[in-house]
Amino acid sequence: MLRDYLPKFLRKVLQADSGSASVEAPAILTTVEQTEAEPFTQLMPTTESTETEQIIQKIRPYSMVPDSGVEFLIKAVQSIYEQQIEGDFVECGVWRGGCAAAMKLAERSLQPHSQRLLHLFDSYEGLPPVQPIDGPMAAGWQQAVDSPWYFDNCTASLEDVQRNFSQLGLLDSEVHFYKGWFETTVPEFVKGKSERKIAILRLDGDWYESTKVCLENLYPLVSEKGIIIIDDYYAWDGCAVAVHEYLGSNGLNHRIRSIPDFSSAYIIKQAHRDA
Ligand SMILES: C[S@@+](CC[C@H](N)C(=O)[O-])C[C@H]1O[C@@H](n2cnc3c(N)ncnc32)[C@H](O)[C@@H]1O
Repeated sequence: MLRDYLPKFLRKVLQADSGSASVEAPAILTTVEQTEAEPFTQLMPTTESTETEQIIQKIRPYSMVPDSGVEFLIKAVQSIYEQQIEGDFVECGVWRGGCAAAMKLAERSLQPHSQRLLHLFDSYEGLPPVQPIDGPMAAGWQQAVDSPWYFDNCTASLEDVQRNFSQLGLLDSEVHFYKGWFETTVPEFVKGKSERKIAILRLDGDWYESTKVCLENLYPLVSEKGIIIIDDYYAWDGCAVAVHEYLGSNGLNHRIRSIPDFSSAYIIKQAHRDA
């Protein structure tokens, strides 16, 4: 299906604006996309390996993130190992578990006996209601309950996710599930864990409040040179505002980088540029 080849944010745009559906990226995006590769992707393997393709194929039924985003995530895991960056993997906004599973599969192929933990936060009952700060497109998306891209308000139960992990052979003691709203579960997780490190923080909670609470609580745990992936930076207004607010109010100089097709953004937590 054509939809499957579209970046997630374009799919959401099409869904919210079904009257004027167009699959072409805005000119500004196609122009910028042709410029030189982002710094982080230069650090990483550039071609798709068969292994990467296999991982994407395995998790495809369990993720709405386009292949480009999953491929980037797999490369991020490889890069974390290459650079020996300490810490766990965290995803906030799991849905059916596809991206989380991709991290684990990528890790297994590199380090079969790794002790890194995978922390998975979700309500496991779908998205909270859109707020005005999330913007009119987000409101339109949440109202369009009959749309094929509504996915029952992005709902997958904890049992569904655990079954998917089990089918992929990934359900083990290193995978930790946190059921409930981020506003409760994330601050609770952080309590007493100031020494815990995060190597990859994947934020995929769509809305302003969901993104903000995760940044406020989890950013401080991210290791130096750790990677923060913000899946919805281009998709939804509130997510972008939360990122800008957090970086601005904490005086953080991090550049917001884009994966090559602009379907998501990421930050490398680095206090100072090397060059
Ligand atoms: C777009 S889906 C995640 C997609 C997923 N990462 C994938 O690989 O396809 C968004 C998820 O965020 C969760 N979510 C958003 N805001 C939340 C919040 N404040 N608390 C708990 N879960 C939240 C929803 O339940 C939903 O599962």
